[in-house]
Amino acid sequence: MPAQILDGKHLSNVIKGEIKEEVDAIIAKGLRPPHLSAILVGNNPASESYIRNKVRSCDQVGFSSDVLRRDESLTEAELLELVNQLNQDEQIDGFIVQLPLPDHIDDQKVLLAVDPAKDVDGFHPFNFGCMAQGLDCFLPATPYGILLMLDRNNIETSGKQVVVIGRSNIVGRPMSILLSRKSKIGNATVTLVHSRTQNLEAICKEADILISALGKPFFVTQDMVKEGAVVVDVGINRIEDATRKSGSRLVGDVDYPNLLEKASFITPVPGGVGPMTVVSLMLNTLKAYKTKHAI
Ligand code: GUN
Repeated sequence: MPAQILDGKHLSNVIKGEIKEEVDAIIAKGLRPPHLSAILVGNNPASESYIRNKVRSCDQVGFSSDVLRRDESLTEAELLELVNQLNQDEQIDGFIVQLPLPDHIDDQKVLLAVDPAKDVDGFHPFNFGCMAQGLDCFLPATPYGILLMLDRNNIETSGKQVVVIGRSNIVGRPMSILLSRKSKIGNATVTLVHSRTQNLEAICKEADILISALGKPFFVTQDMVKEGAVVVDVGINRIEDATRKSGSRLVGDVDYPNLLEKASFITPVPGGVGPMTVVSLMLNTLKAYKTKHAI
């Protein structure tokens, strides 16, 4: 039987509709809408595209937003000062510092400077620690989006073998922690595999749910996937394609066409995990707003 496509675009629109209803109710009470700010340093084309999507989503759900653009030459001290200003600004409920930052700026130092109460990306070690311990916090947007996708499609995780490929701080590692937690979407037996893993292919083949967050096109091939597995593709890779006007196209980490007959569920790229990440950022911003206003 062909795999069911996990349509992140559609689901994200459904959830945006739910957020919009809440925002409309907030505005009807005479309160201001939630506000998300984004800091964008330099002009990385992928970051520009992500930021455009985030601003568009804010418009769709009724949030106000702004993008603070700074030149590539911005110093670390200047960026820390800007973060501090946003931390103090009562009109801003949450903000993100779009990554990657230029090489001369220490990401970790900047992320540590963000007020955890406004850290809607969930990247601050305070939020990461709370996440790991199952305490109330902002969950990092991509793993949060994947949890929502599994939940809304009634995909059972309890007792399942999950394999996560990739150990980044923003996707792979938090994903592995979240799915092992004792919570509704969790209780899985999780293996995190990475560049030093031995027998990676054989481990992946044991997975009931395989989540690839590696960033290598066509890395996950048909022979690495168990019949009937759930395949979640976090990769966003641009490859050359002479048949396209632009000369390139986006693909995930997974050999999607060859897995359609083998997986039970699969996420497309684009239109799978990507839109779920953005809607999770919206949910976190709404949560920041509601906490601040004690709603
Ligand atoms: N760069 C790639 N993904 C992300 C993300 O989720 N948030 C931020 N701030 N930067 C990113």
